[in-house]
Amino acid sequence: MPRPSDSVKNILVTGGAGFIGSHLCERLVALGHRVTVIDDLSTGRRGNLAGVVEQIRFIEADLTDGLGALDGEDVDQVYHLAAAVGVRLVVEQPIRTIETNIEQTSRLLRWACEREATTLIASSSEVYGKGTRLPFREEDDVLYGPTTCPRWSYACTKAIDEYLALAYHAQHQLPVVIVRFFNTVGPRQIGTYGMVLPRFVRAALAGEDILIHGDGSQTRSFCDVRDVADVLPRMLDTRACHGSVFNLGSDRRISINELARIVIDVLGSTSGTRLIPYTEVFGPRFEDLQDRQPDLSLIRARCCFDPRYALEQTIRDLADDMQQTGEAGQA
Ligand SMILES: NC(=O)c1ccc[n+]([C@@H]2O[C@H](COP(=O)([O-])OP(=O)(O)OC[C@H]3O[C@@H](n4cnc5c(N)ncnc54)[C@H](O)[C@@H]3O)[C@@H](O)[C@H]2O)c1
Repeated sequence: MPRPSDSVKNILVTGGAGFIGSHLCERLVALGHRVTVIDDLSTGRRGNLAGVVEQIRFIEADLTDGLGALDGEDVDQVYHLAAAVGVRLVVEQPIRTIETNIEQTSRLLRWACEREATTLIASSSEVYGKGTRLPFREEDDVLYGPTTCPRWSYACTKAIDEYLALAYHAQHQLPVVIVRFFNTVGPRQIGTYGMVLPRFVRAALAGEDILIHGDGSQTRSFCDVRDVADVLPRMLDTRACHGSVFNLGSDRRISINELARIVIDVLGSTSGTRLIPYTEVFGPRFEDLQDRQPDLSLIRARCCFDPRYALEQTIRDLADDMQQTGEAGQA
């Protein structure tokens, strides 16, 4: 890629055909940047990039092959979002999760370091493990369950990614930003890999029972993907963010039972709800977390993070998107 002027950057987005990645690509294109996407479409969809397909370069490949295709090219910034994602995928395919999340991130960081590219690493609220002190702060201790419980492998892979990124920052002064995403929701998210809101919206649109895992008293906080996509470029462009870890999400905490009720109300659905034990969904060794809520002080202070979308609006937009794409009819 030829080097553009200072304000226009050459940007690589790994996992750019995914849910968060596609919204980010739209934002980066709107900001006037040159965007290249590497995505193997394992969980992402080409159609997610329909709105920017003319303006970006899309490389359909596994990350390693995709980076090879960019040999000799300059990149100013990298957003590394490609990962094995979703509780169901993690429980069903632990080898793929561990290998993808650790090996690919290691390769990516080495590649970015050779180019001195400012790099964002997508981490997760899962890194907090079984933390019970709310809200979660970036410097909190973490506690995981036993290694015999595959669920924690995802948290550990993301923690290793964080250690690696911070090590590149410490040893090679690579400008890195680590973002711990909490539940991110909105148009284009699909329920196939266990994501809660699209599953609930799809059931509500179909008038089917909404299946709640566990007793539904567990709490989460949901942030609109468009608010997320809006702040990410500011994080990479802000020097004071480099070398730091940030929570990113909403601090409105609601129970999953309440979430189901809001979905039903907002969509005027006739659906009921049904509780389903974790063991039935994820097998005997599954452990879930009771509560999750981010402390957003750091991202507010450094990046003026101020989400605009209320959950009710997000639900309406996700439902519209599902109806338009035919996702509403998919089980
Ligand atoms: N959505 C959330 O609530 C959430 C929460 C915590 C963390 N995250 C993190 O944010 C990032 C993006 O998540 P998302 O929700 O957009 O998921 P997603 O599944 O929609 O996006 C991931 C993308 O990466 C691609 N991909 C996976 N492995 C790849 C590989 N080896 N090579 C090339 N492409 C590959 C997939 O095809 C997909 O398009 C992930 O790193 C995820 O761990 C998301």
